[in-house]
Amino acid sequence: MSEPKQLSLKRLHVITWGCQMNVYDSLRMADVLAPLGYAPVGSPQDADMVILNTCHIRDRAAEKVFSELGRLRRIKDARAAEGGRMILAVAGCVAQAEGAEILARAPYVDIVLGPQTYHRLPEMVARAAHAAHGDNARGDKQGAIIETDFPAEDKFDFLPEASAPQGLSAFLTIQEGCDKFCSFCVVPYTRGAESSRPAEAVLAEARKLVAQGAREIVLLGQNVNAWHGAAPAAPDGGVWGLGRLLREMAEIPGVARLRYTTSHPRDMDDALIAAHRDLPLLMPFLHLPVQSGSDRVLAAMNRRHTADDYKRLIERLRAARPGLALSSDFIVGHPGETAADFADTLALVREIGFAQAFSFKYSARPGTPAAGAPGQVPEAEKDQRLYALQALLREQQARFNAGCVGLTLPVLFTGPGRHAGQIAGRSPFLQPVHMTGPATLIGQEIPVHIAAAHTNSLSATPLEERACA
Ligand code: SAH
Ligand code: SF4
Ligand code: F3S
Repeated sequence: MSEPKQLSLKRLHVITWGCQMNVYDSLRMADVLAPLGYAPVGSPQDADMVILNTCHIRDRAAEKVFSELGRLRRIKDARAAEGGRMILAVAGCVAQAEGAEILARAPYVDIVLGPQTYHRLPEMVARAAHAAHGDNARGDKQGAIIETDFPAEDKFDFLPEASAPQGLSAFLTIQEGCDKFCSFCVVPYTRGAESSRPAEAVLAEARKLVAQGAREIVLLGQNVNAWHGAAPAAPDGGVWGLGRLLREMAEIPGVARLRYTTSHPRDMDDALIAAHRDLPLLMPFLHLPVQSGSDRVLAAMNRRHTADDYKRLIERLRAARPGLALSSDFIVGHPGETAADFADTLALVREIGFAQAFSFKYSARPGTPAAGAPGQVPEAEKDQRLYALQALLREQQARFNAGCVGLTLPVLFTGPGRHAGQIAGRSPFLQPVHMTGPATLIGQEIPVHIAAAHTNSLSATPLEERACA
């Protein structure tokens, strides 16, 4: 009998752009490639395979990809000059939307794959390796491989059981895709139709993450609160929503914190609001994008809620969980947005008060309805609106952070801080917190005294120290 073949170690470098779901996908791609002998490395130099996991959401996404590919090509060529080989793959949402163009403009790319096909990576890599040896029987353009279909099979059914530990805070994708078709957004095209993973699979993955050391689990989805799944014990029709799933997750021994992102206001149901009331482990911080405070613009965006709907929803959430901190996304300069519409956005921000928020200039995405809509707002006007909105949001964030000074807050310490002797973690409100303290506290959630607020973070002192002061 022959000895089992020893897998030679290969180096994999993954570059990740975009949202947390891309971060999760990059981790899973590494898991898929691990049985082939690929181990992650921190740099593309000398890597045997590089995956560029791309985002298409805003700006010149494709140009950014081509400029990065130019850089990677030089590394790939240098490798080839030394007699080595680097497989170059482009994944993610730009790959999905513009795969053919990538191969046309960058023929040195070996593999283009969409977010729904990465379970097939081993086969793609094998084909790419053959192509390198001159076996290009398929007659593909330079043997390049493109897999950007939305396959009938569910990739989650084909991902390996084994996964690399994520550490103390772990991402878990429970839902993908989107059927909402906001006027400006590429996600329904790049990620496909909305689909939820079964409750049992989600709970099993959560238990595994905890066994691997996670204390915080962040449930992910492009529309995470649209998640719904058959109840494990009731295949005959019982259906859970996210509120129920969170209750089950909170029962998993070892889970200290739960979060979920990103939600749509329309999918915020009573059970989910009740989960905020009832589950101390569900952190009192919610990212709930509103995009605009103008009903006219919200209608043009196809958001299918009004500013008032949003405000009433926030009232209910705050009644359920007093002290709930809010975050949001805003777009300024959507086609048709007037100065008065923008003033409505500022008014909504003033009325609600956000702990933090993301705001963007509208960026026309090819193929989306808003891209060709009349009333495109001049760039200079968008700049001014963004400046004004961000000034207000920064002021609110500073006020929120300053309001934490003097409080005792539980912090989950997840690693060393930037300076020697420091440890760092997150507050319940997702603020980064750093403290001078022993590394033995890493992995623990402990109450600390918030001593000072900075623009994007807080500093803390241990409670005992304060008692002695
Ligand atoms: N699913 C989430 C958001 C996904 S994209 C939701 O429904 O809100 C993340 C954010 O990017 C969006 O909330 C939006 O604010 C911003 N965004 C998406 N497309 C954009 C575009 N074309 N121009 C500018 N910002 C955009
Ligand atoms: Fe994009 Fe709208 Fe879907 Fe969010 S809800 S992913 S913004 S289409
Ligand atoms: Fe970007 Fe795709 Fe996420 S476009 S934001 S990587 S879903």
